[in-house]
Amino acid sequence: MATNADYGDVMEARSKESLPQSLLEAVAVRELHYKTTSPDWQEGSTEPWVVNVLAALVIAINARTVVEIGGFIGYASTRLANALERLGGGELTVCEIEPERALLVQTALEELRLAHATYRVVQDDSLRWVPTLAEESVDFAWIDGDHTQTHVAQEIELLLPKMRRGGLVCGHDVHGVCRLDEVFARFPNSISLDLPRLGPAGGLGIIQCR
Ligand SMILES: C[S@@+](CC[C@H](N)C(=O)[O-])C[C@H]1O[C@@H](n2cnc3c(N)ncnc32)[C@H](O)[C@@H]1O
Repeated sequence: MATNADYGDVMEARSKESLPQSLLEAVAVRELHYKTTSPDWQEGSTEPWVVNVLAALVIAINARTVVEIGGFIGYASTRLANALERLGGGELTVCEIEPERALLVQTALEELRLAHATYRVVQDDSLRWVPTLAEESVDFAWIDGDHTQTHVAQEIELLLPKMRRGGLVCGHDVHGVCRLDEVFARFPNSISLDLPRLGPAGGLGIIQCR
């Protein structure tokens, strides 16, 4: 367990009135991770606290149709599927470009043995897959695939017509090296939260579709 002494440099930074962002990165990440991480979390997965927010948002908007771009090992996928299960049903589709990872996500979802929610893992490039979705059919989208600005901007542009009114387009790594906050800021009704990071980027971008 970290003590105040561990945060000596943070205290010093605070006394120098450093930027809030640097405090966010330094203050509590180790302790938060220690308290919230779970055995299936791996480097490359979304931070556990961000995934908790995603699951809460899925439940808050009573989502029926959820999509995730970038499944990796299924850490976020399983939480999104469980959120749908708690709502009594719905469908999660995970789009993952790498075949081996798509299989890992499939296995992780199978192991949940869901009674109500359904899922599909699609091995494809998001830019090819998103256009195949029906217009106004998606309640919640989690973008966490290719993290380049151009790619994410294209994904959002493609996703917006697919979203239902009141739906949420969320994206990872908006702060830090990816600077995807600059992409989210181009869209109306958007916000980018800078949250403690476990890698060079983190945070949560949200666009509310009206
Ligand atoms: C950061 S990981 C995703 C982590 C996952 N969302 C989680 O929280 O557990 C990014 C994943 O996106 C996949 N990916 C990258 N570009 C993609 C694309 N164009 N379409 C679909 N998946 C993509 C990568 O293969 C990788 O598995």
